[in-house]
Amino acid sequence: MSDNNHIESVLNENRLFSPSERAKKEATVNAEQLAALHAEAGADHVAFWSRLAQEKLQWSKPFTVGLDDSKAPHYRWFTDGELNVSVNCLDRHLDERGDKTAIIFEGEPGDVQKYTYHELHGAVCRLANALKLQGVETGDRVVIYMPMIPEAVIAMQACARIGAIHSIVFGGFSAEALKDRVEDAQAKLIITADGGHRGGRVVELKKSVDLALEKGCNTVRKVLVCKRTAHDIFMKEGRDLWWHEAEAGMSNYCEPVMVNAEHPLFLLYTSGSTGKPKGIVHSSAGYLLGTHMSNEWIFDLKDDDVFWCTADVGWITGHSYVAYGPLSCGATILMFEGAPTIPHTGRFWEVCQNHGVTVFYTAPTAIRALMKFGDDVPKQYDLSKLRLLGSVGEPINPEAWMWYHTVIGQERCPIVDTWWQTETGAHMIAPFPGATALKPGSCTQPLPGIFAEIVDEEGNLITADNQGGYLVISKPWPSMLRTIWGDDARYVSTYYEKFNNKYYIVGDSAFRDADGYYWILGRVDDVLNVSGHRLGTMEVESALVAHPKVAEAAVVGRPHDVKGEAIVAFVVLNSERPTGAERDAIITELKAWVGEQIGPIAKPDEIRFGDNLPKTRSGKIMRRLLRTLAKGEEITQDTSTLEDATILKQLAEK
Ligand code: WT7
Repeated sequence: MSDNNHIESVLNENRLFSPSERAKKEATVNAEQLAALHAEAGADHVAFWSRLAQEKLQWSKPFTVGLDDSKAPHYRWFTDGELNVSVNCLDRHLDERGDKTAIIFEGEPGDVQKYTYHELHGAVCRLANALKLQGVETGDRVVIYMPMIPEAVIAMQACARIGAIHSIVFGGFSAEALKDRVEDAQAKLIITADGGHRGGRVVELKKSVDLALEKGCNTVRKVLVCKRTAHDIFMKEGRDLWWHEAEAGMSNYCEPVMVNAEHPLFLLYTSGSTGKPKGIVHSSAGYLLGTHMSNEWIFDLKDDDVFWCTADVGWITGHSYVAYGPLSCGATILMFEGAPTIPHTGRFWEVCQNHGVTVFYTAPTAIRALMKFGDDVPKQYDLSKLRLLGSVGEPINPEAWMWYHTVIGQERCPIVDTWWQTETGAHMIAPFPGATALKPGSCTQPLPGIFAEIVDEEGNLITADNQGGYLVISKPWPSMLRTIWGDDARYVSTYYEKFNNKYYIVGDSAFRDADGYYWILGRVDDVLNVSGHRLGTMEVESALVAHPKVAEAAVVGRPHDVKGEAIVAFVVLNSERPTGAERDAIITELKAWVGEQIGPIAKPDEIRFGDNLPKTRSGKIMRRLLRTLAKGEEITQDTSTLEDATILKQLAEK
């Protein structure tokens, strides 16, 4: 399982960047304080998290139980406490920071809008009142399908205020994918926009909602539409209503619904190793604590920071580091609607300059893409306000790390490489900017209260340095997922069963070096990481075989210098293997089809055809061989178990 070449190459990486004197002095947590936090958590991790939950969150009813593990691996935290997440993100700041800017927004066309904490609180309350009037009750599911505009955060916070469970579907997903998620969540209401601006075009969100509702989604009663692009759209009488009309006349105050600590705050669908996405369920209190602490510890947020996390609210990063964590800390966040290169390749750096961004958090794929345009582009902008940089989504290759460090951070800014997942809710392995020496390519060490291990195929602990194995988490933590929506059995089988419920199984392989630093090697399951987005190979395969012309399909990843991984599909048609113009036409057709079934991010980069797939005599597809073929390498593996070796030649053809 362990990729020895990768271990070799990262082990050659032995540069060490100690925190600067300035970072050491200014950071909220210095090395001694970090050691004390680790010692406290090591002695009793439940007492540790309970202390923080008491100190850092505002409770309407204090909890007396720290961790309830009576139904393990369904862990529950702070079980008899009650609070409201939107109160913790908004109301608690009104006295001290009511007039502080909460959100700075820049749209792709260049429009700028700001909300103070007071204004944001009012907007959230008005929408919450409107949702109640439309019949949304505590525990109901609301699907949010929005562009990256302040109203997306307002919608999330409004749901939290009344205890409705939101489920955001990324605006880049297709109508078909939206329908699947709405139906699985059994949503009562959808909040969307007429459209969003992305990549110089208008993304027609409302049109996709209409399509999804035409095909099913029978639980949906109402669709609330935010006016963003103001182009003509269809509004269905009795079902669709404009946001601005729905909130008109609503009170600026909405009494928050205090919920149990374990009340689900949201569902978020993510890909796994089957064709069906999993609705990851997050709690209210535990989730909020994880995002609050990591914003304080890892981003070291200060009152005068302007924090820009470039992730869309459709992904977990946009939940934890746009909508919830930073607001719970009273920070100023920046939201940007557009693509990094529209209308020019310096747009990200221009936004940083114009709004005085101090903490910038993005994905390696974006760094690699922007790096290609050369150093002269960022050099045209004043990036002197930046003090901290972050990375998330995949391992950052040392070359991109160095560029980020020297050209963007001007050797002044620590880089926090944060390892975590949709399921973990918040950072798990990441450096403290004022305390941890950095190694390019390593996410460094687990946070206090997080216990990571490496185990072998049998679940035995690997204690030797530099030896790859399964990354696992050995103790429950507050912001962990609670279950998969409607499927407790799949929760247990996906995350716990393999090692007898002893560990939370991450799904990544990793190794630890002699300094105790973790190096993530990649996924161990059939999950791809395309531009920092998780996609199941089975999901793409299911989409392909749903096409009437396709008999069979197998999908693998191939290393890609910007996207991390590219998607290569091997397809067997119901008809003859196509050639020439016919082949080109069907490739175009299949790519468009996958785009409709899932979304543009899932479109295969390459499609190849064979009379069959490489299978063993028992019918199992030999994916190892497909991965080699996708890379364009010679097959050196043993192919004697193959039923028909001649098809390898067909599939090697580009
Ligand atoms: C998977 C989780 C967490 C938000 C973004 C993706 C990979 C994530 C890192 C990192 C190496 C990383 C892992 C993980 N990953 N961050 N800093 N270094 N790998 O969330 O879609 O839930 O994907 O992304 O493989 O399991 P996600």
